[in-house]
Amino acid sequence: MLQNEELSLKDFKKICKQVLKKEDYPLSCFIKKNIVIYDGDKLRKSFSKKKRVFYEIELAKVFEEGSGIVVIQNFFDNKKIIGRMNTVFDAILKEEENKEAADHFAKGGQNARIWNAFEKSALKDAKVFVKYYKNPLLSLVAKAWLGSNYQVTSQVNIIYPKGKAQAPHRDYHLGFQENAAVLSYPLHSQIMSRLLTLQGGVAHVDIPIKSGPTKFLPFSQQYKPGYLAWREEEFKNYFEKSYVQISLKKGDAIFFNPAVFHAGGENRSKNIIRSVNLLQLSSAFSKPMENVDLYKISLNIYKDLRKVNKKGFFDKHSLDAILTASCDAYSFPTNLDKDLPLGSMTPQTLKELCLQALKEDWKYSKFKEEVNKHKKRRNS
Ligand SMILES: [Fe+2]
Repeated sequence: MLQNEELSLKDFKKICKQVLKKEDYPLSCFIKKNIVIYDGDKLRKSFSKKKRVFYEIELAKVFEEGSGIVVIQNFFDNKKIIGRMNTVFDAILKEEENKEAADHFAKGGQNARIWNAFEKSALKDAKVFVKYYKNPLLSLVAKAWLGSNYQVTSQVNIIYPKGKAQAPHRDYHLGFQENAAVLSYPLHSQIMSRLLTLQGGVAHVDIPIKSGPTKFLPFSQQYKPGYLAWREEEFKNYFEKSYVQISLKKGDAIFFNPAVFHAGGENRSKNIIRSVNLLQLSSAFSKPMENVDLYKISLNIYKDLRKVNKKGFFDKHSLDAILTASCDAYSFPTNLDKDLPLGSMTPQTLKELCLQALKEDWKYSKFKEEVNKHKKRRNS
């Protein structure tokens, strides 16, 4: 079993001093500060040329054996949808104004959080939610790292001017655990856990360096005992000497391996309210950080899905992106006494049910009836 004293700053430095080469990432636009930059417009065009799989392979290479960090510029081609989602977030924040907001990294008053912004925004404005989460680039990057049937959660983080920097850390799963808990998992399990999520953030405003974009230590995800190292003074000092930051434009997104050492930066601007929709994407094989009621979301957005689908506004990738995000796309866990597989090994998923409803153009009442039956037969 691994112990704290086996940590080696020397090994860590050796890993973090690597330098990425552009020729190893031929589909990228450029590499800046060891962060690999892609152009969303180019990615969208590649779908029609069946190059998608090559992008998936390259993205996964960055996350695993590269620096661990990718920026997709123009992640949203239509920036208006960001503004409309900002209006939805503002409405949610207003409703939650008096709630004691708990944040594990910042002192009160320096930032605002919307936990489970994913479900809250779906219930607040189905139309905006559908337009936002039908983004095919979301499914591209999620599938590249997690494979199909991934799960989406989101948390909004808004940092006001003078908002302080976070301490460096790794993210969920084991980044949220104390060292004693980390040690209760064998090293191979710690290493495996970083394969279960992908951390992302969509810039909801322009984020120049002075507003404190996230500080990253490229390659640090490769340090195997890293879940035990990030609280150690010498590792923290090295992080503060060696981190990189990159500015983002509204509608750009950044994605990173959850084991990359990182920390929200200090907002040194006078008037920029830094606003990011944090996307935490989870493998179908793991427990996400937040409970999301996907039955509730599916029912709430179905009428809009049906409308958009009938108008022919979903291409194959957009439809897959919105359905994977908003419906449970995995068959398990279920109740195998009641939820029998039909002609295959796996019972029908909520995503498959929703797809059937759209193909057969079910009315809302029929969809609701079938969704309720689906929910009932999966309960224990
Ligand atoms: Fe984090």
